[in-house]
Amino acid sequence: MRHLLSISDLSKAQAISILDTATELARVSDGAVKKLPTLRGRTIVNLFAEDSTRTRISFEAAAKRLSADVINFSAKGSSLSKGESLKDTALTLQAMGADAVVIRHSASGAPQRLADSEWMLGSVINAGDGTHEHPSQALLDAFTIRKHLGKGSPDLVGIRVAIVGDVLHSRVARSNVLLLTLLGASVTLVAPPTLLPVGVESWPVKISYNLDSVLTTVDVVMMLRVQQERMSDLFFPSAREYSRYFGLNADRLKLMSPDSIVMHPGPMNRGLEIAAEVADSARSVIVEQVANGVSVRMAILYVLLAGQPLEAGSK
Ligand code: NCD
Repeated sequence: MRHLLSISDLSKAQAISILDTATELARVSDGAVKKLPTLRGRTIVNLFAEDSTRTRISFEAAAKRLSADVINFSAKGSSLSKGESLKDTALTLQAMGADAVVIRHSASGAPQRLADSEWMLGSVINAGDGTHEHPSQALLDAFTIRKHLGKGSPDLVGIRVAIVGDVLHSRVARSNVLLLTLLGASVTLVAPPTLLPVGVESWPVKISYNLDSVLTTVDVVMMLRVQQERMSDLFFPSAREYSRYFGLNADRLKLMSPDSIVMHPGPMNRGLEIAAEVADSARSVIVEQVANGVSVRMAILYVLLAGQPLEAGSK
């Protein structure tokens, strides 16, 4: 495997191998010495052409814990979206000696174009492209679900997940639908009809407009941010109306089974899609998702650049 552009590039065995490698690497991160020498002398470029806090610092921490050199290239409004400048971007990255480029871009397909470029010799990792995909987020979400509810199983067979809210604009939802179903989970999307994409009927999911009834039947609820920056029209009557039907509040949380978990990729709109008391409750694994993100991104870099999964017990 050279690039990580989409979850659809992964087989079930490859996805599980990344999660298993992350489990091993998490043990290192929990230890006193957090660093492994694996990627010493390798250069990883973080090319972030769209805002990010968590994902960028998570990839940076992951690369540093594997002893790689990291270059942060925050090219806001970069010219990557224009076909003719792709060559220059790739040439610049090559000139920096990039062994891997972690790219976030507002244009869906930008990482693929970089990977397809004959001037790009290293690995390309998609850290979120437009409304298309965000594979490392899906992998960290699957890792978090497996850790809490997996009961020692390598996959997610039998686990029921609801993904709730702005599915239309969410690359997190797209990658999660692909990965969670690949790993055997069943997924229900809950959203107002205006926030579901055209063609969603052909996705391998159930669809519901009634959050309360779905909450009584799932093990995981993944809340999505309402992505106001991607909305030019009004997709729902008012924020209040949205919260009333699709927001996760303390009363709704009571409908869920006691060992169910609440997830959110961040950044959260507290009070809109999720109430503050739910985000901060004992059932929320939101902060843990961020911590798990570092181990999972270490595993992605490890598998792509060191070329093999980490065997259990070998450090
Ligand atoms: C997500 C993203 O950027 O796609 N955030 C993240 O990576 N943690 C989700 C979002 O912005 O709502």
